[in-house]
Amino acid sequence: MSSDVAGRMDRIYRPQRWIYDLTRKPYLIGRDRLLREIAPAPGESIVEIGCGTGRNLVKLPRLCPSARLVGVEPSGVMREAAVAAFRRHDVDARLIAGTAEGLTTATLGLPGGADHVVFSYVLSMIGDPAAAVSHALTLLRPGGRLHIVDFADMADLPPLAAAALRTWLGWFEVTPRPDAAERLELLAASGHGRLERRRLLGGYAELLRFQLGWSSSGYAGNALIPISLSASWPT
Ligand SMILES: C[S@@+](CC[C@H](N)C(=O)[O-])C[C@H]1O[C@@H](n2cnc3c(N)ncnc32)[C@H](O)[C@@H]1O
Repeated sequence: MSSDVAGRMDRIYRPQRWIYDLTRKPYLIGRDRLLREIAPAPGESIVEIGCGTGRNLVKLPRLCPSARLVGVEPSGVMREAAVAAFRRHDVDARLIAGTAEGLTTATLGLPGGADHVVFSYVLSMIGDPAAAVSHALTLLRPGGRLHIVDFADMADLPPLAAAALRTWLGWFEVTPRPDAAERLELLAASGHGRLERRRLLGGYAELLRFQLGWSSSGYAGNALIPISLSASWPT
């Protein structure tokens, strides 16, 4: 795992970890809707990359009791909070120290690929969100789904409010960017999967769901996906 990312995230979150869940509730909107819409089949796996304090993973067992849950988080401070939350709520989830960029299906313990991968307000903290979503698709089984919620273009907000919000988010190293959505649009247009996009509150945030194709472009199995990525997908 990149110790840079882990160290940077620890510095951001160490002072906030006790108040994190309470303070994020009003402005990380769309998370509960994303969780409800995962709707996994019984026994399917859900991997949340950048799971933070485990807030989403704690909610999932009520929505999908038989799902296999995996959380990935670079920050040791956040992982400690997640472990405590899993204990408090009696949640059976695996927690892995790692970053979006460095994961493999082997490190996730899901050799056939994950059924669902979730990014909840994480891509806006990643330097190259388009590369991160491309990489996340290599972690999915054929037909698996990527679920994203994050800040969006804020186009319908009053310009001053949008500018103030962007400045404030910048203090926490959060930069809303269109790159991940554009990458998924491109992949959908070239037949690699199906994309759904829903804007929330005038573009304050956006929900995206991408279902990886079952057999398009030579996907005969998960092992072939990285080869397809380097051969024909923009990375
Ligand atoms: C705004 S928090 C969101 C936490 C959680 N997903 C939620 O919805 O409450 C962003 C999280 O992404 C993590 N993160 C930042 N960069 C990351 C990366 N490159 N790979 C994986 N996680 C990352 C941070 O450590 C932090 O826990």
